[in-house]
Amino acid sequence: MSVRKAEPYKIKMVEPINLIPREEREKALKEAGYNPFSLRADQVYIDLLTDSGTGAMSDRQWSALMMGDESYAGSRSFYRLLDVAKCITGYKYIVPAHQGRGAEQILLPNVIKKKGDYVLGNMHFDTTKAHIEIAGGRAVNFIDEKAFNTTDYDPFKGDFDLEKLEKFIKEKKAENIACIIVTVTCNSAGGQPVSMANIKAVKEIADRYGIMVLIDAARYAENAYFIKKREAGYENKSIREIAMEIFSYADGFAMSAKKDGLVNMGGLVGIKDDEELYTAVRSLMVPMEGFPTYGGLNGRDMEALAVGLEEALEFDYLESRIGQVEYLGQMLHDAGVPIQWPVGGHAVFVDCKKICPHIPFNQFPAQAVCNAVYIEGGIRPVEIGSFLLGRDPETGEDLESPLEFMRLTIPRRVYTNRHMEVIADAVINVAKNAEKLVGFEFEYEPKVLRHFTAKLRPVK
Ligand code: F0G
Repeated sequence: MSVRKAEPYKIKMVEPINLIPREEREKALKEAGYNPFSLRADQVYIDLLTDSGTGAMSDRQWSALMMGDESYAGSRSFYRLLDVAKCITGYKYIVPAHQGRGAEQILLPNVIKKKGDYVLGNMHFDTTKAHIEIAGGRAVNFIDEKAFNTTDYDPFKGDFDLEKLEKFIKEKKAENIACIIVTVTCNSAGGQPVSMANIKAVKEIADRYGIMVLIDAARYAENAYFIKKREAGYENKSIREIAMEIFSYADGFAMSAKKDGLVNMGGLVGIKDDEELYTAVRSLMVPMEGFPTYGGLNGRDMEALAVGLEEALEFDYLESRIGQVEYLGQMLHDAGVPIQWPVGGHAVFVDCKKICPHIPFNQFPAQAVCNAVYIEGGIRPVEIGSFLLGRDPETGEDLESPLEFMRLTIPRRVYTNRHMEVIADAVINVAKNAEKLVGFEFEYEPKVLRHFTAKLRPVK
């Protein structure tokens, strides 16, 4: 019989959290315009807004901070980070950036050569799409249809539909395609992994047409864990070997280090061997992010990231991290709450179209569920649906998202499984009484990225 394992760490420092009374939660949410983004963190008991930059650093990372070399140019901490990142990815060129979108803003304009060029992805993250568009490109998604069927199990719902991808390339011609971006894991589809076979096949298609492949590596270690657990032939490979193989099928990457880098702020760009691209990225970096040996980061941040990158590749850490997300998902699944199944690496995505079929997409069913979960348990989830998607820039009409998700995003090494149980209780209670929930309409709607600052009111 195998021995049961718990978290591979013990807790050395704690941060108090507090559940304010229900009446205060009701008042707080109303004042926040029924938009949990506008709540003060002190009004939140368990914060599941994001897994980005919200993780707990280890004692090794905190001590590494003290070793930071704050030299403007040529910092020792930069070279340390470089060594670690090169060793993990096998890439020749690595440059730091202040976070993921910082990496995108120095990489993408150098890849998108002419206006209107396409950037193909499984499912681009919002900031990636924004930077593609700012650089004059057009973002197109090729995620396999299986991602939209939340009920049926599939081990790799982040996969590309390879047939559609190749058909599009043939139709639009390779010279009009800037690159293909593989997002691992695929956040927007529910933190779903991409299989190694699929990544490899994308690379083969790209090579056939001479197209560059990039990785959005925000959650690459979690993706590697899923490959080890679910893909035949990888069960005896180490997470490091798998990560190295993922990177081998690309020409470059942009990474938000706020996820699998296990730091509160940071990012990286990597370029396999294209010296010309590296030179272009470095020159854009100076005005955008900072001198190439710090890229918007403190020396101490680079030290902490160098340690975090190594820790996130430890199998025991990943097993416990993803195991915790699965624990929460399993409780909800067992209680009949519809979720994206199987659960992804960083979050449980609750299918609110199924919970609230009576609320139309333009009254934001997932936002209604998020708000109810805050009132119920002081828990702050985030809407990933039509509220986030926004309007068609040409017609001004509300766009309908194919999925209306409430994302319960789990920060790394922050909460215990007891917190997961409290979260499950609150979500199950809300789902049981969901027919009473009402939709929301705008009191104030910003023109761009409305979900961050909009104010809403319940529909009468
Ligand atoms: N790519 C992916 C797949 C992401 O999930 C994110 C951020 C980024 C890029 C941008 O990185 O925030 O460091 O600038 N995702 C966060 C989230 C914000 O909550 O999912 P960033």
